[in-house]
Amino acid sequence: MARATVIRKNAAELRVAPNLRDLDAERAAFSWDAARRELQGLPGGGLNIAHEAVDRHASGPRAAHVALRWLAASGGVRAISYAELAGAVNRFANLLRGLGVAKGDAVFVLCGRIPELYAAVLGALKCGAVVAPLFSAFGPQPLKTRVNLGRGKVLVTTASLYERRVKKVAGEMPTLEHVLQVDGADFRRMFDSSPAEFEIEKTVPEDPSFLHFTSGTTGMPKGAVHVHGAVVAHHATGKYALDLHPEDVFWCTADPGWITGTSYGIVAPLAHGVTSIVDEAEFDAERWYRILQDERVTVWYTAPTAIRLLMKAGAGIARQFRFPQLRFVASVGEPLNPEAVWWGKEVLGLPIHDNWWQTETGGIMIANTPAMDVKPGSMGKPLPGIEACIVHRKNSGIEIVGNDDVEGELALRAGWPSMFRGYLGEEARYRKCFADGLYLTGDLARRDADGYYWFVGRADDVIKSAGHLIGPFEVESVLMEHPAVAEAGVIGKPDPVVGEIVKAFVSLKAGFVPAEELKMQLLAHARKRLGAAVAPKEIAFAAQLPRTRSGKIMRRLLKARELGLPEGDLSTLEGPT
Ligand code: WT7
Repeated sequence: MARATVIRKNAAELRVAPNLRDLDAERAAFSWDAARRELQGLPGGGLNIAHEAVDRHASGPRAAHVALRWLAASGGVRAISYAELAGAVNRFANLLRGLGVAKGDAVFVLCGRIPELYAAVLGALKCGAVVAPLFSAFGPQPLKTRVNLGRGKVLVTTASLYERRVKKVAGEMPTLEHVLQVDGADFRRMFDSSPAEFEIEKTVPEDPSFLHFTSGTTGMPKGAVHVHGAVVAHHATGKYALDLHPEDVFWCTADPGWITGTSYGIVAPLAHGVTSIVDEAEFDAERWYRILQDERVTVWYTAPTAIRLLMKAGAGIARQFRFPQLRFVASVGEPLNPEAVWWGKEVLGLPIHDNWWQTETGGIMIANTPAMDVKPGSMGKPLPGIEACIVHRKNSGIEIVGNDDVEGELALRAGWPSMFRGYLGEEARYRKCFADGLYLTGDLARRDADGYYWFVGRADDVIKSAGHLIGPFEVESVLMEHPAVAEAGVIGKPDPVVGEIVKAFVSLKAGFVPAEELKMQLLAHARKRLGAAVAPKEIAFAAQLPRTRSGKIMRRLLKARELGLPEGDLSTLEGPT
């Protein structure tokens, strides 16, 4: 079938009038001050995410409206109203305050998608604590690294995650004062005896709210610090990019262990007072179609890997279901192939709307919005309040380039409310992200003559697997712990479903033989230490790894060789390879 290069939209034909009808007009009229006035705020100019997400609705006409519809992995459903959620959040906040948690303390959360996670995150925010979410598929090593970097005071988890992830390193996290197992009897007693009223900490927009760890090419993960004022951007982008309307049933499939699952799985939908679906179970094509159908999902925010898995499962499964309520579908996190946009149109009856952002930007920056024509393969255009441009780095600084059809590094004019305010303890690294009032994203992009942005690639060696950023250094460090390993180099190997898989190259110490059995041992070691989300899926032995003269492993060269691509500039390569 011949496919057009543009999917034309007619705003008058859309089932619900979109919040954003005319991008250019709205961009011209927009101000962040006006966006802030759509929220309530605390008396005296304060702002707290949990107040906007929960208390504002619990004390108003939406008190009985369902905030969360939790679908248990075992099959049960629990509907939690805004009023009920407020009670649970307050009990959690009281419990934390009772344990000595005060403004600025770090509360880490390592839970699956269970209701207690939502009460913990929002309760901690009400205390003025900084919330650091952890992905439940992280192994003990990534967990320990992050808790120690963030000086975690409390860790909220479950009994089984404690056994599998925490116990082995429990004695190696000196700042931790309390570990709460939310499914344990001790916790239940404390929780049930905590009052359901709580006096909120008087936070202001610049007070820290979340600490999200993200990976770079070198060194340990970076803790991106976010503030309570970010809720203004989450509300505005929920309105423009996700088109949330009061009666929507919204499903964000991202896990709250990553920023998409907090910004858009918790904050944005609750700030809009809509009903969110929370599914405890892992991906399953039939289950997902059933949720879309039976829960009558109207707005769906998911990721390319999930869409590719649905495509792989075949149209036969999809045809058993109907989605007449579904009105808008968006995707984020990795490049969305044009075929996936068209698949949406054929199978769901709607094109998939790609959008772009990063842990550092806190919220959606560039998007395909409902009334906009979609060019399959493009990430869309900057939202109201966001100024994007393409820059080239020069020795003396940066240069903003051209008007029509330009390619280079994507940059954003600094100053939107959800922008990160620092990398924890790494001021210099933070400052290096900015030049001439612009935040430099590290992504390469193209802007076409119509102002649409297209993803080109990343400027660094970070790996994106199933939408999750993985730092090669963290993986290499764990492989190096093994007595047989002399050196390790880790790359992302292209994969048709998850985008990239983690592949490691290792050279062995004298006396070790590169045998299949050792490979299995190394894979098992990495899995145990790093967890399934981060560990390599493939390992290859090499007699020696290519290094620069300064001793750095040349991951780019490993990758070029793996892919059979030109090896590029080898002038810094050390010795013969
Ligand atoms: C990196 C950010 C996804 C938001 C939260 C997680 C890549 C993101 C797209 C897209 C192509 C994308 C970029 C970006 N990315 N969205 N629509 N098309 N690539 O953010 O884990 O910090 O990852 O994800 O490389 O820099 P993150």
